[in-house]
Parts: sequence; structure tokens; C-alpha cells
Amino acid sequence: MINFTDVLPTSPQASKLEFMINPILISLPKQIETPRLIIRPPQMGDELEHNRAFAESHLELREWLPWAQEIPSLEESEITIRGFMADWILRKDLVMFIFEKQSHQFLGGTGLHRIDWQIPRFEIGYWMRTSQAGKGYITESTNALLRFALEGLKAARVEIRCSSKNVKSESVMKRLHLEFEGTLKKNFYNPQGPRIDDTQLYAAFDTKSLPPLAVKWG
Ligand SMILES: CC(C)(COP(=O)(O)OP(=O)(O)OC[C@H]1O[C@@H](n2cnc3c(N)ncnc32)[C@H](O)[C@@H]1OP(=O)(O)O)[C@@H](O)C(=O)NCCC(=O)NCCS
Repeated sequence: MINFTDVLPTSPQASKLEFMINPILISLPKQIETPRLIIRPPQMGDELEHNRAFAESHLELREWLPWAQEIPSLEESEITIRGFMADWILRKDLVMFIFEKQSHQFLGGTGLHRIDWQIPRFEIGYWMRTSQAGKGYITESTNALLRFALEGLKAARVEIRCSSKNVKSESVMKRLHLEFEGTLKKNFYNPQGPRIDDTQLYAAFDTKSLPPLAVKWG
């Protein structure tokens, strides 16, 4: 296995080829730990808790997430999770689940998506089960994921997007002091209208402005 820092270009003049390693060789941690949370990739057996959390939160999720329009069956959740595991191994898409550290309760989903390993660049997504919203868990998990991407994976850019009407999601980005890059007009298809919303685009380029948080990964 290869640590990402081992394969970064040694100088700005380093050849593109030097940087073009196969992403499958990039080592990733088993989990990311914060004061209250464990954030880890999906595993076999997660489908029941994933399915319950999704079903409980469906009305809220379908408002903002185009992929969350129907409550999946248990078998569909299992298929989805196996797909997430395959994408993780291929380093194509890094979906992660969030658990409360003490109780091990399944809280929600997050991850590093729309990956470009050559930059490297990622987009963070998130959802929280409705019964556990309003406790700052997503602000905490997103702070941790930003630190992991920027420091652990040496990301040049990590962005987060949401509908301009998704006040709760945009509040997370504001609480973390992300840089507001602009509004993409008529860019977000919301199937619940159906309607077209604007997209708010935020990004982070280093960890300097993030609120302090003890995070470890390994
Ligand atoms: C977007 C979403 C994840 C936000 O969840 P959330 O629970 O509001 O976010 P957080 O976990 O960061 O909690 C923040 C809230 O907890 C409160 N809070 C309590 N303790 C806190 C702490 N230690 N730290 C930060 N906030 C805390 C905050 O004041 C805030 O409350 P407010 O909304 O009344 O101001 C959730 O609404 C959701 O899942 N929506 C559907 C899916 C979705 O829209 N995803 C994003 C697509 S772009």
C-alpha cells in the first residue's frame, strides 16, 4: 500500500506521470474519530440500521436528495451498501457512515464524492437521521472530513454544495467558515417541486479557518 504523501509530486515541475498512480494503491484509514463520533466506510451488516435511519428520515431526505425519493427495501439497502464498498475499494467514491461513539447508534451518511485524485479534489455530502438532528453531529463530522481530506489526503480543494433553499445545509458550511464561492443559478433539480433551485457553492483550501476539533484517523 502507498501513503498519499509518498506519491505527491516532488516539485511543481514534477511530471504528470509521476502523479498518475492508480488510486487503488492509496491507503485509506479504517475510521475517523472525533470527540463524539466514529466515521467509517460501510460494511456488510450495516443494511438494517442504514435502512431504519433512512426510513425514519425519508420525508426530510427526499426534499433535498434526488437519490432519496423512495424508501428502499432491506435488500435494496444491502445492494446499495455493497456498491459503496466496491466504490471504496476502487477509490471511486468514498461513502462513509456516522456512528455515535458511546452507543454505536447509526446517525447518518457522509463522504468524499466527485473525486479528482489528480488535483486532489473532493465534494462532501451529508445527511443526518431526523431523530438525531440539531445536535451538531454533522458540523462535527464535516469538520473532521475536511481535516482528513485537506491534511490526510492533501486535497487542494474540498467543496460542498446545496440548494439555495436548504437553510440547514448551508448553515453547516457557515458554521465551519467555508469560503463562499458563489451561486450557480438554476443548477439544482429538486424533484419535490418539481422545481429548479439555485446552488450555493462553498469550498475549503486549508484547515486554518475551521473551528478547533480533535480528530484522528488510522
Ligand atoms: C442538512 C442536515 C444534515 C443538517 O443537520 P443538522 O442536525 O441541522 O446539522 P448539525 O448536526 O450540524 O446540527 C446543527 C444544529 O445543532 C445545534 N447544535 C447543538 N449542539 C451543537 C454543537 N455541539 N455544535 C454545533 N451545533 C450544535 C446547532 O445550533 C444547530 O441547530 P439549529 O439548526 O437550530 O441552528 C440535515 O438537515 C439533513 O439531513 N437534511 C436532509 C439531507 C440534506 O439536506 N443533506 C444536505 C444536502 S446538500
